[in-house]
Formats: sequence, C-alpha cells, structure tokens
Amino acid sequence: MKKPQLVVANWKMYLNIHDTSVLVNRLNKKVPLYRNVEVVLAPSYLSLQPVSMEIDHRKFRLAAQDGYFKDEGAYTGAISFSQLRELVNYAIIGHSERRRYFGESLDEIRDKLSACVRNGITPILCVGETKQERTQNETKQVLHDQIVTALSDLTSEDIENLVLAYEPVWAIGADEPAKPDTIDKAVDWIRYQVRELYGQKAESSIRVLYGGSDEPEYVAGIMEIPGINGLLVGRASLNFEEFSDIITGVHLSGLSNE
Ligand code: PGA
Repeated sequence: MKKPQLVVANWKMYLNIHDTSVLVNRLNKKVPLYRNVEVVLAPSYLSLQPVSMEIDHRKFRLAAQDGYFKDEGAYTGAISFSQLRELVNYAIIGHSERRRYFGESLDEIRDKLSACVRNGITPILCVGETKQERTQNETKQVLHDQIVTALSDLTSEDIENLVLAYEPVWAIGADEPAKPDTIDKAVDWIRYQVRELYGQKAESSIRVLYGGSDEPEYVAGIMEIPGINGLLVGRASLNFEEFSDIITGVHLSGLSNE
C-alpha cells in the first residue's frame, strides 16, 4: 500500500508551553483531515506531554526533535528514545543544527538511529551539505558519508519505515528553498545510496522529504519532483495558516499525481 505523504513541523526552540498549546489548538481547528497526508508535530521536549493530550489524534502525530542513544542510566540532562516511545511515533535525527551547534558526529547519529529503531520510533534522518561543501563540489560525497554511516547498523527490515530529509544547510532559515533542479539531483542521489545499500524494494519503501525555507507558494513545485514524499517545515510551521496551506498544498499535489 502506498504510504501517505508526510509533512513534519519542526518547532525547534521557538515556543514555550503556553504558546505551543495555543498553536496546537489553532491547528486542531484549522487543519483539515486528509487521508493522503500524515502530519507530524515536533514540539520541544517540554511540550510533548501536554501536546499529546491536546492534539486531535486523527490529524496529528508527534515527533521528538532529538534523543540520546543510550536507553537508560546516569546521563544527566539526557532523554532517551525508550522514554520518548510512550509519546512519539517519530524522531528527527541529525538535524544540521544538532550537527553544527551540538557537535553531533556521524557515529553519534548512527547510534541514535539504531536507538530509535530499537525502541520502535521511526527516524527522520536529516542530511544535507553546507554552502561551502556545495561550492567545493562535495555535495555527493557529503550525502554519501552521512547516509552510509548513519545506516550502517540497520538491516533492510529496519529501514522499511525510514524517512530521509534532504535539508541543504544553506537553504535552512533562508529567503527561499533550494531550486527544484537542485533538490531533484540530491533526492536522486539519496535514493541511489539507499538502493545500493539495501536494494530496490527497500528504496521504494522509504520516504524522502525536502526541508529548507518551505512556504505555501513553493509547495506545488517541490512536490512535483520525482521521489519526494513530503516536507520538513521550520518557520512556516509556527504560523497556523501558513502551515495549514502547506498541508493542503501537499494534499492537492498528491491528488494530481495519482
Ligand atoms: P526553515 O527550517 O523552514 O525555517 O528553513 C527548516 C528546518 O530546519 O528543518
């Protein structure tokens, strides 16, 4: 069965518990229920519990923005996927902000991915090159290294539900998304890596998202790209009207591709 398209809201460190609750209530009212789109919200750890009580579960599922790779123990300040599993279906892993500001290494991201899978949480693995890497023609190498290392402990069964998000670092928090042609080439390459590692069947079972300055006006153009199954949205997901328009855009693009 064809998996639904996926739209993920990454609320990063933007909202406090109260503001999150206000946004969730607006989204509950505004976002229509579409069968061909799965919508996932990633609030801060602090808000996961309250949001889980507030969301309309027919319309939304939850994701963690990160997690620690050990399951339990003396790790002050950390939150494990075994703790998160009660609350979330998904977890964002290896976001470029984690790699950049928190020094997450390729190996750490591999361990987080395994921990996610071990705990029954579907990972959303973010990959993408920096501006400098693109300028130096290293995009393919960077994507290859990020994917091959991250997946190295997983079997083809483990990756059946995997979500990969192509997020060029230079397009995050920018004025506009990467151009469709650029996304197209990267998505092709990402899918090729998965095919090389696990074969055609595994490749066709994964979903690939695009993230980086998504706005309603760009949705149709991005969703037309072959091999794209949805969006990972930052800033625009903080505005309930814009986010709802993005979801509707993804829904409509799914209908026209059927
Ligand atoms: P942005 O963030 O939509 O604000 O560019 C995207 C992301 O970091 O996933």
